[in-house]
Amino acid sequence: MIRLRKIDHVCLRVADVADAARRYSLQFGLTVRECTPARATLACDYEPYSLELVAAGDGDELGFDHCAWQLRRSVSLEQARAHLAACGVAFEDRGDHLSLADNEAFEHHLFACPLERDRRPAIARQTSELPALRPRKLGHINRLTAELEASARFYADVFGMEVADYLGEAGIWLHCNSEHHQMALVEGGAPQFHHFALDYYDFGTLRALFDNLAQHGRWLAWGPLRHGIAQNICGYARITEEPLLVECYVDMEVLEPEHEPRHWPDDRFSSNTWGPLPPRSYFRFDEAAVASERDSLETTGTPLAPL
Ligand SMILES: [Fe+2]
Repeated sequence: MIRLRKIDHVCLRVADVADAARRYSLQFGLTVRECTPARATLACDYEPYSLELVAAGDGDELGFDHCAWQLRRSVSLEQARAHLAACGVAFEDRGDHLSLADNEAFEHHLFACPLERDRRPAIARQTSELPALRPRKLGHINRLTAELEASARFYADVFGMEVADYLGEAGIWLHCNSEHHQMALVEGGAPQFHHFALDYYDFGTLRALFDNLAQHGRWLAWGPLRHGIAQNICGYARITEEPLLVECYVDMEVLEPEHEPRHWPDDRFSSNTWGPLPPRSYFRFDEAAVASERDSLETTGTPLAPL
């Protein structure tokens, strides 16, 4: 079995790399590390980068390209190779990382734990380039699945993740470290990347961030809210340029060692202790769903037509 340390970065295919890098930087407080017409990297904090943007090729769909993970210090890339082979999972060896597809063809990369020259916490370090308003880290990804059980089994067996919580028959949250989850799976009828999530320290920072997003013409597809499962206070920013949401969150539950997964009822309180379930548009990325959200149609009495 291998074990992961944390999520390393998410990579998105975008129509215009420079434009997308500027958007994520200005709107979410990410710092552009490098930017060429083909590829940009952006950081939350002192890490090399957490968001990678690549130019979409002809006919490529925009949005999720891959997610990269760091192995724990005690696990070598060589051990990961042997483990994937033993699991019967096909992978491509790219020297400094292994590339593989999960059970629903989402691409993942596995890297060895990087050598970090400065391991002091961020608040004890010095910077001349990071902005005042910024996330402290990339926390997790969430994807919709057509095969919930099989997807959870993949991340448990192949990546060594453990289940944090179950939401009825509708969702499974998995963790590789002490934060509640790094991977969330929600039954959605078809596989679809849903969101990546950035951690913004506390409610005050989140307030400043949501004001900033609103001033840049963004809206929240759902929130602010408090999840019962995982405890995080958050809002989901709609990204229309790439079909996905960006969750901005704080105060996620820290799990005890040897955490035992809990079974939550699939009700409103499990999803949002403060208020309503999400509008149906939250689970969709088509034009009708985006238009419905933009004009708040579901809340004003016009239900979103089924796909
Ligand atoms: Fe999330």
